[in-house]
Amino acid sequence: MVQATTGMIHFADNLDVLVTLADGTANLIYIDPPFNTGKVQRRTQVRTVRSEAGDRIGFGGRRYLTARIGTQDFPDLFDDYLAFLEPRLIEAHRVLAPDGSLYFHVDYREVHYCKILLDSIFGRECFLNEVIWAYDYGGRSKTRWPAKHDNILVYVKDPGNYTFNWDDIARIPYMAPGLVGPGKAARGKVPTDTWWHTIVPTHGPEKTGYPTQKPLGILKRIVEASSRRGDLVLDFFAGSGTTGAACLALERRFLLVDNSRQALEVMARRFAGVSGIQWIGFDPAPIDGQTTRDPS
Ligand SMILES: C[S@@+](CC[C@H](N)C(=O)[O-])C[C@H]1O[C@@H](n2cnc3c(N)ncnc32)[C@H](O)[C@@H]1O
Repeated sequence: MVQATTGMIHFADNLDVLVTLADGTANLIYIDPPFNTGKVQRRTQVRTVRSEAGDRIGFGGRRYLTARIGTQDFPDLFDDYLAFLEPRLIEAHRVLAPDGSLYFHVDYREVHYCKILLDSIFGRECFLNEVIWAYDYGGRSKTRWPAKHDNILVYVKDPGNYTFNWDDIARIPYMAPGLVGPGKAARGKVPTDTWWHTIVPTHGPEKTGYPTQKPLGILKRIVEASSRRGDLVLDFFAGSGTTGAACLALERRFLLVDNSRQALEVMARRFAGVSGIQWIGFDPAPIDGQTTRDPS
């Protein structure tokens, strides 16, 4: 169980893991699903039901039976993207603690559709913020305004009762310190909903080599603001494990899921030497060997 460990990392399809989690177990969820890029994705359709005949054991010893309906490659197109996300977001809402928050990191081309989907699952009144992560890197279009931001939608389960640690949030310098008094300028300000933050520096120590790795500074800000020490943070599109790294730095527990062997290998390197991590479906030791199995 996660309670006794620093973290738990699953090599699996996230829906298979989500359905085994008890209601209200995650204090904070951060997810950064693959964007709707037009690349081909593989989708395995499964149906998981509670059944005494099942071979998967979930929380409380409950048994689950997973039936594979079929596997298909599909272009990462709009309709399929939302159909892929919806059951996972419904589960995310269910496993979120009563005072928990969901941070949903998405591309500017998809954010509108995802907001409507999330409104339908959480309720519009539970929408807290749209955080704009702005950066300044890479090629620049000359035919339109160069797109240099991602969107992070923030939802809470209960708008009347949620964790938001305003006093703990690391302050940043004012853009125009001359316009505030010297005391305020020295203290800095709590960030607004627009976060200027560099991408992961290409040659910095933070770089893992995982193509879609997000900056640790962004994850630390989220974890610090919206969870407490010892809380459980869930990231079921974990990639290189940035959420786990933020949790280690801030003394939170984590539950990470990814269905890519490459992601698990990167996480094994990133968390090498960290004690208390439980690996499910993946052996982190011989990362170049054949001891891992594909998620089923
Ligand atoms: C954009 S990346 C996440 C990057 C991550 N935030 C980081 O900082 O490294 C999305 C991840 O979702 C994973 N993924 C996609 N579909 C999945 C599924 N059905 N179950 C589990 N993981 C999945 C991909 O393998 C990929 O690593």
